[in-house]
Amino acid sequence: MQGFPLNAWYAAAWDTEVKRELLPRTLCNQKIVLYRTEAGKPVALADACWHRLVPLSRGHLKGDEVVCPYHGLVFNPQGRCTFMPSQETINPSACVRSYPLVERHRFIWIWPGDPALADPAKVPDLHWNRDPEWEGDGKRIHAKCEYRLVVDNLMDLTHETFVHNGSIGNEAVAEAPFTTTHGDRTATVTRWMRDIEPPPFWRAQLGKPGNVDRWQIIRFEAPATIVIDVGVAPAGTGAPEGDRSQGVNGMVMNTLTPETEGTCHYFWAFARNYRLRDQALTTEICEGVSTIFRQDEDILEAQQRAIEENPGRIFYNLNIDSGSMWARKLIDRMLAAEGHPVPVQQAAE
Ligand code: FES
Ligand SMILES: [Fe+2]
Repeated sequence: MQGFPLNAWYAAAWDTEVKRELLPRTLCNQKIVLYRTEAGKPVALADACWHRLVPLSRGHLKGDEVVCPYHGLVFNPQGRCTFMPSQETINPSACVRSYPLVERHRFIWIWPGDPALADPAKVPDLHWNRDPEWEGDGKRIHAKCEYRLVVDNLMDLTHETFVHNGSIGNEAVAEAPFTTTHGDRTATVTRWMRDIEPPPFWRAQLGKPGNVDRWQIIRFEAPATIVIDVGVAPAGTGAPEGDRSQGVNGMVMNTLTPETEGTCHYFWAFARNYRLRDQALTTEICEGVSTIFRQDEDILEAQQRAIEENPGRIFYNLNIDSGSMWARKLIDRMLAAEGHPVPVQQAAE
């Protein structure tokens, strides 16, 4: 049963990963080869030669074209064959699939579904990655779990208390109430923790003593992008009412790309609006967040294994799951619109 819609933009790679060389990557169960033309334009082709299906990623680039490693057929960025050995005419049907791509917000986005529906305006907004008012960096995790388990994880940050105690989690997170709202393609979970002791990470970022008002505003955009507006301000300085000027603010950008039914590429970045142009801090935060996300990865991979070991077992939902339930419902709607069957327990209201 397919668990991901195809008519969506997914991050295929960080911009820096795609170069003047052939990069094989499996995205949404499709084997794809990525590269850049001499002018720097990213290209994505199906990674199987038209002739005998040998992976093109094992071949080489010749200018803007890919040469198959077996019998030398050449394919241009549109996927059309431009050379066949020992013959003058080229079979007009000789081509491999070429995927729509958009380079934006430091990612290369791919549309694995119907190319006629690929509207660049629908690329998820991760502009904080390029905004001069923000500074940050991120990484890609190859996670051995289904992408929706990461969605669940990010839509409910109660787990910070238990999985990330000592860095970003403390009792206040699991104690604070939250609200959940949704639209046609989005679900938002808002949590304010007022007048609490900040966990160590946020104490260090704020650099001031005393209690804080802490916020986590999690915004999911179907099918697989989650941006979390996080931060702290000294307690009582007006952050919950809209004045964050005394505080520090970060945007945690997460976008997931299914690799197979049971694995995914997890792209994330953390951008901050304080201490800009401080590369040492950027590196420190990037490494710190990496350590935190490894804790999630460890739990999620164990969860994936347990799911596979317990076929037929269903999930139970608590109050804390309201955000992820909405996220899954919005994903199910996209799946249904593409004609995929939707699991009964996930479709239940
Ligand atoms: S398999 Fe690619 S040229 Fe023959
Ligand atoms: Fe986490």
